[in-house]
Amino acid sequence: LNYRVPRTRKEIFETLVKGLQRLEYRGYDSAGIAVDGNSKTTTDINSNTICLIKKKGKVKALDEELYKKDSLDLDEELCTHFGLAHTRWATHGEPSAVNSHPHRSDKDNEFVVIHNGIITNYKELKEYLITKGYEFESETDTEVIPKLIKYVYDNRENDSITFSTLVERVIQQLEGAFALVFKSRHFPGEAVSTRRGSPLLIGVRSEHELSTEHIPVQYNTARFKDGLQEKNNHNRPDCSNTINSVGEGRAVEFYFASDASAIIEHTNKVLYLEDDDIAVVLKGELSIHRINRQAGEDPVRAIQTLQMELQQIMKGNFDAFMQKEIFEQPDSVVNTMRGRICFETNTVILGGLKDHLKEIKRCRRLIMIGCGTSFHAAVATRQILEELTELPVMVELASDFLDRNTPVFRDDVCFFISQSGETADTLMALRYCKARGALTVGITNTVGSSICRETDCGVHINAGPEIGVASTKAYTSQFVALIMFGLMMSEDRLSLQKRRLEIISGLKALPELTKKVLSLDGKIKEIANELYQQKSLLVMGRGFNYATCLEGALKIKEITYMHSEGILAGELKHGPLALIDKHMPVIMIIMKDACYTKCQNALQQVTARAGRPIILCCQDDPEVTKNAYQTIELPQTVDCLQGILSVIPLQLLSFHLAVLRGYDVDCPRNLAKSVTVE
Ligand code: G6P
Repeated sequence: LNYRVPRTRKEIFETLVKGLQRLEYRGYDSAGIAVDGNSKTTTDINSNTICLIKKKGKVKALDEELYKKDSLDLDEELCTHFGLAHTRWATHGEPSAVNSHPHRSDKDNEFVVIHNGIITNYKELKEYLITKGYEFESETDTEVIPKLIKYVYDNRENDSITFSTLVERVIQQLEGAFALVFKSRHFPGEAVSTRRGSPLLIGVRSEHELSTEHIPVQYNTARFKDGLQEKNNHNRPDCSNTINSVGEGRAVEFYFASDASAIIEHTNKVLYLEDDDIAVVLKGELSIHRINRQAGEDPVRAIQTLQMELQQIMKGNFDAFMQKEIFEQPDSVVNTMRGRICFETNTVILGGLKDHLKEIKRCRRLIMIGCGTSFHAAVATRQILEELTELPVMVELASDFLDRNTPVFRDDVCFFISQSGETADTLMALRYCKARGALTVGITNTVGSSICRETDCGVHINAGPEIGVASTKAYTSQFVALIMFGLMMSEDRLSLQKRRLEIISGLKALPELTKKVLSLDGKIKEIANELYQQKSLLVMGRGFNYATCLEGALKIKEITYMHSEGILAGELKHGPLALIDKHMPVIMIIMKDACYTKCQNALQQVTARAGRPIILCCQDDPEVTKNAYQTIELPQTVDCLQGILSVIPLQLLSFHLAVLRGYDVDCPRNLAKSVTVE
């Protein structure tokens, strides 16, 4: 920050902690902060101190710890200050204070760093640094970074070396993925940041965005030019602003963050760093250059204005983000369709794909790649995409796709489905396909994310920020976006018009039907009351609803820690039937579609073994309900859209089960929202 009217250290703590709380969904096993020690009149190294405070547990625990430090003057006013904060999701080393970030070069905290990502060659670096006498205190991969920068600093050829040069030398030695922010006692008030593979954005707050109590500063500017061209056709929000149009004001505060939710309450003006960009804030001025810059080679990174609102990332009247996001679905599915489907003319236009449509229509096959819930959205829409595009459609888990070195051809079209747009496995698969010349399409919920930027074209699902680790509204919006893609592909196919019209009118009715399903919440809570002490829960179905089984079972295991399996009903007799007895709860999805009779057969097989099925079925279906132990009756829609409705009761069920079992719904153990490591 750089104010003419200073802020107290307490306010700085509050800003950093609030930012961490907003990012907590990305990791929450430990957290830490680095700030300047009490200020001295001189900037001499001997009098600059960096204070590190780290704590195991959630950000709240760190927050409490901050105020226990009586050595820090909370009321001290600071004009220029650079603080670091980090919330961790453990990869190397258990959750503990010492393994949490910021990591430091030495006991004097000469260099401290925060890191998102993974350093794959850390063992070699660590061994080398140990031979040079460095002592490591943590089990993390990250700790090699501050040690390495100190090593480079201690072996510098002259004293005029800059902080950014040190950082450049360090990252040239690193392999893996990282977003890094450095702070140093040797370079007080200076921030250096860089990334490769992991996301990093910079929020730029102008004097015009400051509240009136702050007097505008005159002396600092940021060096930017307009120019990041939209290299693809993602429907990005305003991408043309430059620093000059940040409220026509000068930049006065800079925020480095992994995602925009951490900073949105301070500014909606952000720029995204590219791999190997080095960003420096020095004397209140931001500059960006490429690693090993040649003269005149400064890159141009345009400022984007985010549409995200603070209230979108607040819980409102709900007990948990997940619950809020489940109940947002009547709106989020509309937002996915907004401006894209014309219900008068029955046309569908996805602006981010239209220029590539010809090429897509000529392709050899469609390959849809994702992880977790995003993969399930691919499974859910595969059948209708095969029908509407008349192309072979493969669905792939990103990790497995890479493990197999799957053959990919120049005339393949590869879809990368990801809520966050940052999942490392999906991103790696994207780079793999790109290198083989396939057309790459992003289906993401996060504007400016790596997958958005690296794909040739794509669709933003516009579901709004999703904070709950268990994905809900992103799934239904991905589902809708992929259906819209199928509709766009089939616009000129006469034989498919009847089917298209049926689906389009189904989409029109979807928000109302979604509300009806949500009104079953009370009944679902009652069912949860009966089930919450069970150890296991099976979810069975087939056809268009198989993906619902996989997704429902994933929700249950993610947040309730119960064993749960999504079973293809067609496979029942080939194994899972052995699990059925009167104790095993089985949820069966039996909708009036082409698989109806086959699902009824599966139901018979379950009841014949004294199983007690809880059936998700269409309203007014006495044939099915008479055999049920419990029923959840859903409004009927077009077969290929039914999965959007049938997943909601399972989202609600998992939510209630987790609450009844006493778990933190938004922060399930061992999981993170956005997995940026392979
Ligand atoms: C993590 C999350 C899942 C999510 C998956 C894919 O595992 O815990 O909820 O489905 O990543 O995330 P993405 O952001 O790529 O959709």
